Amino acid sequence: MRRDQFDPPLPAAQSPASAPLVDSHARRIDYIRLSVTDRCNYRCVYCMSENMNFLPKADLLTLEELERLASAFVARGVRKIRITGGEPLVRRNVMSLFRGLSRLFERGLNELTLTTNGALLARFAEELADCGVRRVNVSLDTLDAQKFRALTRWGDLAQVLAGVEAARAAGLKVKINCVALKGANEDEFLPLVEWAHGLGMDLTFIEVMPLGEDAAHNIESFLPLDAVAAALAEGLTLSPSTHASGGPAQHFDVAETGGRVGFITPLSQHFCDSCNRVRVTCTGALYTCLGQEDHIDLRGPLRASPDDAALHAAIDEALRRKPRGHDFVAQWAGQMAPARRPMSMTGG
Ligand code: 5AD
Ligand code: SF4
Repeated sequence: MRRDQFDPPLPAAQSPASAPLVDSHARRIDYIRLSVTDRCNYRCVYCMSENMNFLPKADLLTLEELERLASAFVARGVRKIRITGGEPLVRRNVMSLFRGLSRLFERGLNELTLTTNGALLARFAEELADCGVRRVNVSLDTLDAQKFRALTRWGDLAQVLAGVEAARAAGLKVKINCVALKGANEDEFLPLVEWAHGLGMDLTFIEVMPLGEDAAHNIESFLPLDAVAAALAEGLTLSPSTHASGGPAQHFDVAETGGRVGFITPLSQHFCDSCNRVRVTCTGALYTCLGQEDHIDLRGPLRASPDDAALHAAIDEALRRKPRGHDFVAQWAGQMAPARRPMSMTGG
């Protein structure tokens, strides 16, 4: 049919470069976790082997590419970016990336945050705050300096505690992440909560996941978080919190401290139905699910052309394939090969 000048204009097809990200299970994706390095200054026993082989630097996205990628995601409605690693603060010049990303606040980004082991926070906390970072997650599994050294293979607890202090002094809201490990920090759950809450920091416990080279070892140290809840109940009163973080944690208010405890239980409880996130590795592989191998390369399209069309097409293809959920339980039971990439590739 011929259209003439009196017809109302056709609705503009939403350009792929601005269409919101919705996967084929109708989940809206507004959160990306962006790993900026696979390297780390620690070697946590559940995460990396001692003589971990890291990627050649040429494989990594450059800081400019990372910024361009983040910007494309923000154009697609992403509102929250979490920078991860490895340890993100060991990436050379990472502050110039934060500086660049802070410009995305004007384009719809609501939150820029990071997950760090805290070792370098004392150096960078002020600058992060200056780039608009308001909250940081610090990973800390024990308050015992010797155990800390053993778990991280050479970490210095005092340095991390100084990092936490510096972050608080810079006005950053700190959340502590603690992986529950049988035979390692079992006796510390209560003291860790009391310490964190005493400083006004929430704390989230994480079940160890069977990822990476030594997935079998993690299965041995696996502790269901019911055991953590039981230990906490000996000294504290937990009641379900109304707090919704938009993440996979279940939250509880603690009557005695006024603080909050979260539990992330990927194994004993699925949280996939409300999944709002995707992960990008430091080489530009887009993983749409933490527990699945399926991924799509974004580095190719990024490098192929200064135009973002191919990049957006690749993102769309990945979302179409985003699985309904992970299979950790089946992997654990030996029915499926575990995802072999370590957490340090996708940053948790
Ligand atoms: N299972 C659970 N948590 C892990 N982390 C690293 N590897 C694992 C694993 N296999 C945690 C770190 C940090 C966060 C990024 O992920 O301790 O808190
Ligand atoms: Fe580094 Fe975090 Fe892995 Fe520990 S868990 S080795 S701090 S990336």
